[in-house]
Amino acid sequence: PSTIGKSFLYIIVIKCKAAVLWELNQPFSIEEIEVAPPKAKEVRIKILATGICRTDDHVIKGAIVSKFPVIVGHEATGVVESIGEGVTTVKPGDKVIPLFVPQCRECNACRNPEGNLCIRSDITGCGVLADGTTRFMCKGKPVYHFMNTSTFTEYTVVDESSVAKIDAAAPAEKVCLIGCGFSTGYGAAIKTGKVTPGSTCAVFGLGGVGLSVIMGCKSAGASRIIGIDLNKDKFEKALALGATECISPKDFTKPISEVLSEMTGDTVKYTFEVIGRLETMVRVKIQEATKYQALDLHKLKPIFHIKISKSDFSSVIFLVCVGFLAKKKFDLDQLISHVLPFKKINEGFELLYSGQSIRTVLTF
Ligand SMILES: NC(=O)c1ccc[n+]([C@@H]2O[C@H](COP(=O)([O-])OP(=O)(O)OC[C@H]3O[C@@H](n4cnc5c(N)ncnc54)[C@H](O)[C@@H]3O)[C@@H](O)[C@H]2O)c1
Ligand SMILES: *[C@@H]1O[C@H](CO)[C@@H](O)[C@H](O)[C@H]1NC(C)=O
Ligand SMILES: [Zn+2]
Ligand SMILES: [Zn+2]
Repeated sequence: PSTIGKSFLYIIVIKCKAAVLWELNQPFSIEEIEVAPPKAKEVRIKILATGICRTDDHVIKGAIVSKFPVIVGHEATGVVESIGEGVTTVKPGDKVIPLFVPQCRECNACRNPEGNLCIRSDITGCGVLADGTTRFMCKGKPVYHFMNTSTFTEYTVVDESSVAKIDAAAPAEKVCLIGCGFSTGYGAAIKTGKVTPGSTCAVFGLGGVGLSVIMGCKSAGASRIIGIDLNKDKFEKALALGATECISPKDFTKPISEVLSEMTGDTVKYTFEVIGRLETMVRVKIQEATKYQALDLHKLKPIFHIKISKSDFSSVIFLVCVGFLAKKKFDLDQLISHVLPFKKINEGFELLYSGQSIRTVLTF
């Protein structure tokens, strides 16, 4: 053990359980893994709760390129277990949310008020931390990270820039949604799209992210919010959260853009595509579609969403955590359809595939 300062405390490798994906199109396998101590400027986190997002499934299916074996999961709440040298923004015991878009606050993207796609993000799927190595081992093999977070594990290690401290009193099994689904959708409406009062919005896809877009449109004062989904079971929740009407493309023979045009007298001002079934890595694709007639889902190209501004992601987190406790402004409960113990992760994915769940939260 090192005797430099307090660092000997952190030299311990933790053995714990994690859901490992050994290869494409396979179920998760709960394995004992070894989690190395955090290196300089890194933080080791004990995960308290983690949501299942469609993005994790994209890795299973190969739509998002990753190395294998890998630990996915990116929407979580945790508590800092230990910190590496030079970490100043969090300390052991702090409640945190990992950030899959790190915020180094130094790069061009971080300094630009219009965007926050930090250059330290793992957009290429390399699956390692800054020094080029992983902190996970299983059966003698390195296991890769996912989007600098990896939360389907009892313990993970992330860079200090990939973590945001939250209020200690925030309920872990709810605020984990702020780590991805809620912030992405809500932020898309209020920050990226800048939905205006009285406007008409169309939201394609009523999963956890799409419903969060609806919450954002509503809070921005949109007067008409049309939800579109193939699965009509999603309508009830969408209507409860602020959609004024919901339609299924299955009920129409003509293109849905024509249907929308007729329904609204051509007044849809904002269109959000929140399905994301594309071959390449997709982040939420937002089309501010005054020319929404041109919106043809088959022709949509993946658009790298670079406008989640720093304030979109981090300040929504902040706002919500404060607001959550102070005013209960955002009802994240509505987005959580299932809560399961972590070891039932495969069941959680089955609920996603069958269209029964909005968000399943896994607890530890
Ligand atoms: N910041 C980001 O970049 C970011 C964050 C989160 C999620 N995402 C992506 O956003 C998308 C949505 O995520 P989610 O977790 O809400 O997914 P989800 O699977 O829970 O929801 C998608 C919804 O779209 C519906 N749908 C599928 N095909 C459709 C079609 N052809 N027409 C109409 N509706 C259709 C499904 O029935 C489902 O209700 C995913 O692709 C995910 O990877 C991106
Ligand atoms: C994120 O992952 C990429 C590639 O795996 C790596 O190069 C980068 O340093 C990581 N960033 C952080 C903040 O961990
Ligand atoms: Zn996600
Ligand atoms: Zn940066």
